[in-house]
Amino acid sequence: MEKSIWRKKPMSAYEADIKNNQLKRVMGKWSLTAIGIGGIIGGGIFVLTGTAAHYHAGPALALSFIVAGIGCVFAALCYSEFAGMLPVEGSAYAYAYGTIGELFAWIIGWGLILEYAMGAMTVAVSWSGYFNKLINLFGIEIPYYLRNDPFSAASYATNHNLEPSSFAFNLPAFIITWVVTWILVKGIKEARNTNNLIVVLKLAAILFVIIVGAFYVNADNWHPFIPEPEMVKHEDGTSAEAYGIRGILSGAAAIFFAYIGFDVVSTSAGEAINPKKDVPFAIIASLLICTVLYIMVSLVLTGMINYKEITGDALKAPVAFAFDHVGKPWAVLIITAAATTGLISVMLVMMLGQTRVFLGMAKDGLLPKFFKQIHPNFQTPWKSTILVGLVVSLVASFTPIGVLSDMTSFGTLFAFAMVCLAVLILRIKDPNRERPFKTPMLKLIAPLGIITNVGLIALLNGLAQKLAIAWLLVGLIVFFIYGQRNSNLNQMDKD
Ligand code: ALA
Repeated sequence: MEKSIWRKKPMSAYEADIKNNQLKRVMGKWSLTAIGIGGIIGGGIFVLTGTAAHYHAGPALALSFIVAGIGCVFAALCYSEFAGMLPVEGSAYAYAYGTIGELFAWIIGWGLILEYAMGAMTVAVSWSGYFNKLINLFGIEIPYYLRNDPFSAASYATNHNLEPSSFAFNLPAFIITWVVTWILVKGIKEARNTNNLIVVLKLAAILFVIIVGAFYVNADNWHPFIPEPEMVKHEDGTSAEAYGIRGILSGAAAIFFAYIGFDVVSTSAGEAINPKKDVPFAIIASLLICTVLYIMVSLVLTGMINYKEITGDALKAPVAFAFDHVGKPWAVLIITAAATTGLISVMLVMMLGQTRVFLGMAKDGLLPKFFKQIHPNFQTPWKSTILVGLVVSLVASFTPIGVLSDMTSFGTLFAFAMVCLAVLILRIKDPNRERPFKTPMLKLIAPLGIITNVGLIALLNGLAQKLAIAWLLVGLIVFFIYGQRNSNLNQMDKD
């Protein structure tokens, strides 16, 4: 039979996958919600808020968070319908395989590597930055060539008139990746417990920022709430229009990274005790909790300090800077410690998601068996986890990946748009299938989800857009060379 790019995985094959699940089902609805929050709250809220306020939205940063949050809510509702119906670990990839077709599913799976593996790499680099800042507060400094990749180390040496080092490597990023890998290999219970603990700490830190920060808000800083559009000079010397409605929208794209993570809940379906009910609950709950917190943090930040004053070094740590600005330098320690700890769970969740998507793809024959080998005692896909750890640790420590976080947003937005499309297709084609969670007003929500998420892709950094598209093209080649030839559907076609 012809290997059509549109062939689909039959629903009976999903049912067989669910029956043959080898993973350990230990996650209840709050642990799953903590997975979502563990993935969402990270460097984004502590770092990107400054850039988004100064270069894009001004005090209307809160509106940027609402716009990006709405795009995510549309996607979350669509994810939830699928997650209830098809509680399998492949997430967006698996949903597309049963509805749109094999090629699209593959491209989504390939795009999810940008979200999860590349996300973990950029977060490892940010973690290293925060870790260095934290130990600096205690007077400890790691030599520059052991905390930067070779490219960043060379420019650091030039900028600081230092003798260039012949060797450079981001040691903290390397070490943290292997710590996370070890936890993930060891077992899902260990990963869950570590994540739960970190989530409690980072929620406490966010609440601290909101509650303590509220006492230092000067309402004058919010006027005008939506400043008139004007040209603003960026650090690289170029100018771009900021503020006004357009600024709110470009601000939404700039802070989108801060929302990434809730969809990882859907990759944990194989580890959920009651996936049909609890995965949709956790996706929506984690997103809503973080959206409310983010809106409050952005109001407090732009109230504590005038957006025009967030420049230079303040852009790297705007929330800490705001506390310094109001004469509370000790808060810098709390915020830096919270971000350093918080980013560990983002890495944990991203790498968890990556290995589970690979597991789903390998079960379908689109990736080699290596990716679906489960450890007999730990019940985790240990070989694939170690491989992901190896790649993440090497790229994070030897390349300047940190500047490419927009590629992570690209992969995520692409998956979100596809999930909105796929859920609509399945609702039209198979309206009577049992749906434990049904997206309300789907015929409106799904198209709006597609428009918002594709719209945000268009607003991302141009270089990241080009590189992400190049990545998807490489994926097409791999599909025709390996995926399509080894797909389980070839066997089913014969039967
Ligand atoms: N949402 C995650 C963060 O902000 C990726 O770090």
